[in-house]
Amino acid sequence: MNQIVFITGATSGIGAATSHVFAKKGFDLVINGRRVKKLDKLKSKLESKYAVKVKTLPFDVQNKKEVKKAFKSLKGDWQKVDILVNNAGLAKGKDSFEKCNVEDWETMVQTNVMGLLYVSRLVAEQMVKRGKGHIINVCSSAGHEVYPGGNVYCASKFAVDALTKSMRLDLYSKGLKISQVSPGHVEETEFALTRFEGDKQKANIYSDFNPLTSKDVGKAIYYIASQPAHVNIQDIVMFGSMQASNNHIDRSGRKFN
Ligand SMILES: NC(=O)c1ccc[n+]([C@@H]2O[C@H](COP(=O)([O-])OP(=O)(O)OC[C@H]3O[C@@H](n4cnc5c(N)ncnc54)[C@H](OP(=O)(O)O)[C@@H]3O)[C@@H](O)[C@H]2O)c1
Repeated sequence: MNQIVFITGATSGIGAATSHVFAKKGFDLVINGRRVKKLDKLKSKLESKYAVKVKTLPFDVQNKKEVKKAFKSLKGDWQKVDILVNNAGLAKGKDSFEKCNVEDWETMVQTNVMGLLYVSRLVAEQMVKRGKGHIINVCSSAGHEVYPGGNVYCASKFAVDALTKSMRLDLYSKGLKISQVSPGHVEETEFALTRFEGDKQKANIYSDFNPLTSKDVGKAIYYIASQPAHVNIQDIVMFGSMQASNNHIDRSGRKFN
């Protein structure tokens, strides 16, 4: 069996791109998301293109029982995850604080924070037993700097940043590496469409500048994962070259394609 990478939220965007990057490098994969057809399609694509095995594991990261049942259903060596990429996540809405939908807040916290915790708790226990493993959290530039209308999404990613740091303190002496990647805007994802409830006009936010692509982030995650044993990358904060911070974007037109 090859090394195993477990990627949550692999049905689109950064998770799907990261799956391709790791499959190309010869990793077997456990891929998660809620959309079963998309997972099946990704599995057959990866297995036909690369000499790797892929296990689909559909579950909702928000649901503690579902997460546990799914993880326990992994048989044989499949529970021996070498690298966990905690990528499943989302933003819902971008309204001013007093107008926000409270259910959107609950969904973001439950997915981006509790979901990451439910999955990590199970995988980390296995990794500690084996004295090795690497957990890579997909944080965001929103986990380092707030922006108007970012309120609870930013708070959830600040929580991810705090968890990356605190997981590392608890686990570094037990053989585990803990890292994160913190991208600014990323295209080739469903992120904006999800944030704006499928409103294509509102989600059209990349037409006047070049953000990162999902593959750029996938490659950064692989870079983090492929360092020598004595190196732990704590965080990669990355933006497209036309974005200098969450609040500074050169929207003078796309320059690179
Ligand atoms: N795009 C950006 O600008 C950007 C920037 C910085 C950080 N990020 C972060 O990058 C990560 C990936 O987002 P993306 O940009 O690639 O967006 P995306 O294309 O919308 O992908 C989100 C993924 O998360 C999965 N997901 C959402 N809720 C889930 C749940 N409850 N259970 C299981 N899977 C769930 C989705 O799968 P299903 O719908 O099939 O469940 C999907 O595969 C997120 O954590 C996001 O916060 C994105």
